[in-house]
Amino acid sequence: MKKIVLAISACFALGGGIALVQAAAPANEPIQPIKAAKVKNPAMAELGKKLYFDVRLSRSGFISCNSCHNLSMGGTDNLKTSIGHNWQKGPINSPTVLNSSLNLAQFWDGRAKDLKEQAGGPIANPGEMAFTHELAVDVLASIPQYVTEFKQVFGDGKVNIDRVTQSIAAFEDTLVTPDSRFDQWLKGNKKALSAQELRGYQTFKTAGCVACHNGPAVGGNSFQKMGLVKPYITTNTAEGRVAVTGKDADRMNFKVPTLRNVALTYPYFHDGEAATLHQAVDTMGKLQLGREFSKQELDDVVSFLHTLTGKQPDFKLPILPPSSDKTPAPKPFN
Ligand code: HEC
Ligand code: HEC
Repeated sequence: MKKIVLAISACFALGGGIALVQAAAPANEPIQPIKAAKVKNPAMAELGKKLYFDVRLSRSGFISCNSCHNLSMGGTDNLKTSIGHNWQKGPINSPTVLNSSLNLAQFWDGRAKDLKEQAGGPIANPGEMAFTHELAVDVLASIPQYVTEFKQVFGDGKVNIDRVTQSIAAFEDTLVTPDSRFDQWLKGNKKALSAQELRGYQTFKTAGCVACHNGPAVGGNSFQKMGLVKPYITTNTAEGRVAVTGKDADRMNFKVPTLRNVALTYPYFHDGEAATLHQAVDTMGKLQLGREFSKQELDDVVSFLHTLTGKQPDFKLPILPPSSDKTPAPKPFN
C-alpha cells in the first residue's frame, strides 16, 4: 500500500507518469465538467428571460429568440437552416444557445465578440426578426410592467437596446447544462458510462477529435478548417471566418461547435446537411482526420456523444406583460 502511494506522489513530483496520474485524476482529461451557472444578477436574468421569449421584439409579433433557439429542443430549431420573417429561408443552421457563454466568440464565423453584442443582431436582421432597435425599444417602453422591471434592474425605467441585450445575455449566461453522465464520470463516478460509451470516448481521443473538440464545452474555443484533409463539398455559400478577417487562410474556417447536448441539436454542420450523428461523425473522420471509421467505431463514438447531454435549463415559462393601448401593432404580413 505504502509503495503505491509513494509511486503516485513520485509521478506528481516528476510532473510525468501521465498514464498513472490520468487514471487517478480526471483533471488531466482534455474535456472538463461544465460548472453550474452562478447567477450574478437574478433580476436581470429574469428580465432577459422574458425578452428572450417576447415575440414583440420582432416585426411580425410572431418570432422570438426561442423560435429558432427553442429551449424545449436543445436550444435549436432542429431545422437545416432557420425560418425568418415572412417565412424566409435562412442562410445557415441555427447553433444552440446552451452553453454559448463558453464560446470564444459568437456565430459560426465569430463575428460577435460576446453574447451581448450577438443579441442585437437578430432583432434588426431583415431575414430573422426584421425589426429595428428603435422600434423594439418603443414597443417595450409602451408596456408599463416592462418599464417597472427595467427600473428595478437598472435603477431607472429607461429602455434602450443596450439594456435589452445586456439582459438577454444575462439570461443566456444561465443556460448551461451541467451534470451530464460524462461529467459524472469525469468527477469520478466510474459507473456513469457503459463499456461502449467509454470505448467511444477512447476512440474520440485516440482518433484526434479532441484536437479541436476539447475544454468544458467540447468545442467552442477555436476556429478550424472544415475539410482539413479533404475539402468539404456543399452548395451553402457561407465561407466562415474569412468574412470577418478577410484573410484567404480563413476560408472555410468555422467556430468549432460545442458537442455538449449534441444528441439534441441535429441536424449538423453550418449548412445543416448532416442529418444524423452517425453521418456527422463519419464525415468528421474522413474530412478532418483522413480516417474511415468501422461501423463499430461509429456506433461507439455516437454512444459517447449521447453521454454529453446535460441537465437542461429548468424554469417556469415566463408570463409576459400585456401590451398597452400605446403599443405599436405587429405587422405579421407583407
Ligand atoms: C430566425 C431565426 C433566429 C432568431 C429569431 C434568432 N436567432 Fe440566434 N441564430 C440564428 C442563426 C441562423 C444563427 C447562426 C448565424 C451565423 O452564425 O451566421 C444564430 C446564432 C445565435 C447565437 C450564436 C451561437 C453560437 O454558438 O455562435 C446566439 C447566442 C443566438 N443566436 C442568440 C439569439 C438571441 C438571443 C435571439 C433573440 C434576440 C436570437 N438568437 C434570435 C437564428 C435565429
Ligand atoms: C480540425 C478540427 C476538427 C477535428 C479534428 C474534428 N472536428 Fe468536429 N468539427 C470541427 C468543425 C470546424 C466543425 C463545424 C464544421 C461545419 O459546420 O462546417 C465540426 C463539427 C462537428 C460536429 C457537428 C456539430 C454541430 O453541432 O453541427 C460533430 C458531431 C463533430 N464535429 C464531431 C467530431 C468528431 C467525432 C471528431 C473526430 C472523429 C471531430 N469532430 C474531429 C472541427 C473538428
